[in-house]
Amino acid sequence: MPSNRLRVVTVAIAGFGSVGRQVARTLLARRARYAQVYGCEVRLVAVCASRGGVAARAGLEGIDTLALEEDRTGPTFLAELAPDVLFETGPTDFATGGPALGYLTAQLAEGRDAVVVSKGALVHSGHALRALARETGAALRISGATAAALPTIDLVETGLRGARVLSLEGVFNATTNFLLNAMMARGCTFAEALGEAQAGGFAERDPSRDIEGWDTACKLTILANFGLDLGLALEDVAVSGVGDVTPAMVAQWRAQGQVPRLVGRLDCTGARARASVSVQTYPLDDAFAHIPGKTKALRVVTDCMGEILTMGGGPEPIATASAALKDFELILDARGRSGQGASGNFFLG
Ligand SMILES: NC(=O)c1ccc[n+]([C@@H]2O[C@H](COP(=O)([O-])OP(=O)(O)OC[C@H]3O[C@@H](n4cnc5c(N)ncnc54)[C@H](OP(=O)(O)O)[C@@H]3O)[C@@H](O)[C@H]2O)c1
Repeated sequence: MPSNRLRVVTVAIAGFGSVGRQVARTLLARRARYAQVYGCEVRLVAVCASRGGVAARAGLEGIDTLALEEDRTGPTFLAELAPDVLFETGPTDFATGGPALGYLTAQLAEGRDAVVVSKGALVHSGHALRALARETGAALRISGATAAALPTIDLVETGLRGARVLSLEGVFNATTNFLLNAMMARGCTFAEALGEAQAGGFAERDPSRDIEGWDTACKLTILANFGLDLGLALEDVAVSGVGDVTPAMVAQWRAQGQVPRLVGRLDCTGARARASVSVQTYPLDDAFAHIPGKTKALRVVTDCMGEILTMGGGPEPIATASAALKDFELILDARGRSGQGASGNFFLG
């Protein structure tokens, strides 16, 4: 017999900075959509940051006025609420996996789904987290960690399904793209371009991970492992950044009609995949020469679907939050079709 009762889906957010708060705001604003399209009543039952958090089984409201209570944080705090879906939006720490590792392990071990935005745990322990999710039947979705609004993981996983990826190259870091464009267009030095980006609020106060190429290397590693099932470690990627680009190099590229990009490259044609991050130059008739300011791009070469290019991006943190919420909708859709969450926690309210 058809039922118009809504399935209750509970959500928690670990990491309540600019992306976590934006996820919360947009999630609450889209509740009518989740009810209409997926038949779900979505309740945000907990959020937490480094030193505190807040929970309400009936659902939190008023994101911008929420008062976090001290010490209410950590994997145990969230696990007590057994959220159907966890958004992980904490700091990226690829040396240790960071706090994300504890949150994700606790969530996936119970067969509950996770949407990940930070990169550290995926780089450090991606293989183990994927194995855990497979074992428990939990969904582990990672769009926010692989260039966010730019379809990267979706493209290789779904859009190119059945094709063999021979190689890919991506401009995955908007900050370095802005810096190189500024140097090429206005002839400013690297330090001047960086100062401009920091004043505009789109370069971190400590931009070393971006400019040294590590942010790009992390995204490439995650894409290779989650999208193409390769066993790539961050140490396997030969990484160099944009810090050594000089005005003399810029002048020479200009004279040659070449445009520089910081590019993550993966070549899958040999016995072992080869991965690198470095400054590459492109002639003006190549689409990669025309990637505007804070935009990202990915080009994939396949055996039977030709060469596919995707380019774009939106304002942050809305674009990243929206990529995570796209993952959330894919989970709602899949769970709706299968009848319940892997943990059996999606229930009729
Ligand atoms: N900003 C973007 O546009 C963007 C785009 C793509 C990916 N990302 C990734 O998304 C993640 C979040 O970025 P963001 O800009 O939102 O960073 P952010 O503003 O610095 O927020 C990070 C949040 O994580 C919290 N946190 C730290 N340790 C924690 C712990 N042990 N348990 C729970 N929460 C903890 C922080 O708490 P406190 O507030 O107490 O310090 C803060 O609320 C990062 O990994 C970043 O690399 C960001």
